[in-house]
Amino acid sequence: MNHKNRDFSASLLGGADLFDLKVIKKYNKAGPRYTSYPTAPMFHTGISGDDYTSTLKRVASDNAPLSLYIHIPFCNTVCYYCGCSKIVTRKYDRAAPYLALLLKEIDRVADALDNTRRPVTQLHFGGGTPTFMSNDQMRTLMTRLRQRFNFVAKDEGEFSIEIDPRECDADTVRVLQEIGLNRMSMGVQDFDPIVQKAVNRIQSKEETMRVLNEARQHGFESMNIDLMYGLPHQTVETFDTTLNTIIEFNPDRIALFNYAHMPHMFMPQRRIDESAMPTPQEKLNILEHSINKLLAAGYLFIGMDHFAKPTDELTIAQQQGKLYRNFQGYSTQADCDLIGLGVTSIGYVGGAFFQNAKEMENYEAAVEGDTFAVFRGYILSNEDHLRRQVIMRLMCDFALNYHQFESEFSINFKEHFADGIKDLDEMAKDHLVELRDDGLTVLPAGRLLIRNVAMVFDEYLQKKKEGGGFSKTI
Ligand SMILES: C[S@@+](CC[C@H](N)C(=O)[O-])C[C@H]1O[C@@H](n2cnc3c(N)ncnc32)[C@H](O)[C@@H]1O
Ligand code: SF4
Repeated sequence: MNHKNRDFSASLLGGADLFDLKVIKKYNKAGPRYTSYPTAPMFHTGISGDDYTSTLKRVASDNAPLSLYIHIPFCNTVCYYCGCSKIVTRKYDRAAPYLALLLKEIDRVADALDNTRRPVTQLHFGGGTPTFMSNDQMRTLMTRLRQRFNFVAKDEGEFSIEIDPRECDADTVRVLQEIGLNRMSMGVQDFDPIVQKAVNRIQSKEETMRVLNEARQHGFESMNIDLMYGLPHQTVETFDTTLNTIIEFNPDRIALFNYAHMPHMFMPQRRIDESAMPTPQEKLNILEHSINKLLAAGYLFIGMDHFAKPTDELTIAQQQGKLYRNFQGYSTQADCDLIGLGVTSIGYVGGAFFQNAKEMENYEAAVEGDTFAVFRGYILSNEDHLRRQVIMRLMCDFALNYHQFESEFSINFKEHFADGIKDLDEMAKDHLVELRDDGLTVLPAGRLLIRNVAMVFDEYLQKKKEGGGFSKTI
């Protein structure tokens, strides 16, 4: 699809245009982050490992690129805020049996795919803390991946890893570079010592800076730092100090997440003192201040929590209409089949989602047996594919050109989405979007609320008309 008719000049506007307190307060409700559509709550257990096998076989003769995601769940301490899928343990000897399972799963997928022609253009190690694995174990893992899949040259692909700087020494950075990784994303959240103590994540500026410098020396191209607002004891003043340090570090990208506090789902969050958390107003103040500061420092707002330098490939891809979104966030690699490997991982193959068992025992039992560990998934209908594309383009382009969908999906866009477009009228009155006959543009004030705009095209939320257990949009 070609994505013209977008106006990117607005992304250069100041924070005051992005941050409109009145509309933020009006629209701030729970909603999905749309790293997938349909979203994970729509997955069901009617999809099994056998479906995955037959789907892999069906797409085996494709030549389209592949993306690989490998989940390494272990962390040696727990950060109380964490909403990721992880296993907290100090027993490093748990890594070896897990690696053995991953190797078996890699072989099983590669056998079912029955070819090694499809170029792998994207690889992501996520966690947990991927470097819980030793350097030798990472080497073994990568060697097997290269034996069984056809990786494009390093400078042609996005090969990334999530790093906890506390678990990454100089040797590890060197090994990660040697095995072919070229992107790194580091967790920081906040450097304030009181905040760090309250969330049980003690991490110095020095160790963070050290890993960043080592990665740069080893030729890692795009470095990202994760920050979070809404944590206990944060104020505009304390977070300003963290932002100063980060701006000095000069990463290519910054992700600024809104702390999703859902203690009913994530046990460690129960150890967070809710009375010390910033009020909703203070959170908005921190967000406004952060946006102003990052834009003034030369970063651009890419969309959903993400900022990047004008020279970063994400910014360039966005300007060319070639930005995409998947489970790992924004990407420059075109939408393609994604193979998920490891406990809880989610793949997207042949137009369907497949998720592996969330419990290690179940994952292990399946992989040690002769089946895949898939426990749930979702097969997209034509209608889902249409809406998935619409939501993807909205999140990536901040604009829609209706004609692009009309020919591909044989619909009249305005008739097909008549209900949704009616809902957008209110947003147009509030200057969140500009509606035209042939498309729409998300205006600066609507950019922070892009989830709300996307929710209009979510068939399943429209049916429920509620946030359905998701976190607040801002
Ligand atoms: C798997 S972690 C990052 C890698 C590594 N484990 C680390 O902590 O440095 C991915 C990111 O998710 C974000 N995150 C974790 N829990 C969150 C929550 N409850 N709300 C919002 N963002 C969260 C954090 O910014 C974190 O850096
Ligand atoms: S934030 Fe990272 S290190 Fe901390 S518990 Fe979560 S996954 Fe582990």
